[in-house]
Amino acid sequence: MTEVVAINGSPRMEKGRTAMILDPFLDGMKGAGASVELFYTKRLDIRPCTGELICWEETPGKCYISDDMQLLYHKLREADILVLATPVYMPLPGEMQNLMNRLVLLLDPILEMRAGRTRARFREDVRISKIALVSTCGWWEKGNFEVVLQIAEELARNASVDFAGALLRPHAYLLGEVEEKTRRVMDAARQAGIQLVKEGKMSEETLEMVSQPLVSEEERNRRYGYITRGQ
Ligand SMILES: Cc1cc2nc3c(=O)[nH]c(=O)nc-3n(C[C@H](O)[C@H](O)[C@H](O)COP(=O)(O)O)c2cc1C
Repeated sequence: MTEVVAINGSPRMEKGRTAMILDPFLDGMKGAGASVELFYTKRLDIRPCTGELICWEETPGKCYISDDMQLLYHKLREADILVLATPVYMPLPGEMQNLMNRLVLLLDPILEMRAGRTRARFREDVRISKIALVSTCGWWEKGNFEVVLQIAEELARNASVDFAGALLRPHAYLLGEVEEKTRRVMDAARQAGIQLVKEGKMSEETLEMVSQPLVSEEERNRRYGYITRGQ
């Protein structure tokens, strides 16, 4: 059975827009037969990395900080797919950044050069083979995800695992306001979850459905007073 660990980094947890995309995505994965565990960074005690790299040098694969990362390390070692879910916060909420820094322990410090870049690998006892991203943002266009997307892709490359793709939901504050479109977006998120478990990848078409505009540009300008200047 495919084991999935999902981490929702939204401080608004179940009530947030990120959960409105993540939850149907995870439901789809469960429906396709995966076992899914969901954690909220806000409910966990995850302290910042202290940067001594003791987990690489003195006690390989072990972190001396006694907090909830100890439980997560155990869960992550057993997972096949890691789902990172986060709102865009220029770029990340602090709790999510703390968690990502602490993932360094899971990497083997034997470095290699690939296509001109230094890369590592997950340690042998880490099963994760795919990382997927779910992200929501407030502003209109997908360009607002550039930095967060790059962070998730880099994490996958540094760990030498597959970046399975991203469910990106711009102007997410409109979710719920436009019921029919919201339903279609959530259905697409569920479909993406099914695809990831059954086929090992998500189709571009399905991911585009998750990101589809929720209102026309004219309506956006009318309702929210957007103006367009320059290019
Ligand atoms: C501190 C902070 C920074 C944010 N920065 C951005 C940003 O740079 N670009 C953007 O499009 N939205 C930004 N947003 C909006 C959130 O990404 C958006 O509202 C998101 O859907 C919230 O998800 P949540 O309800 O799950 O917390 C920011 C919100 C906060 C609170």
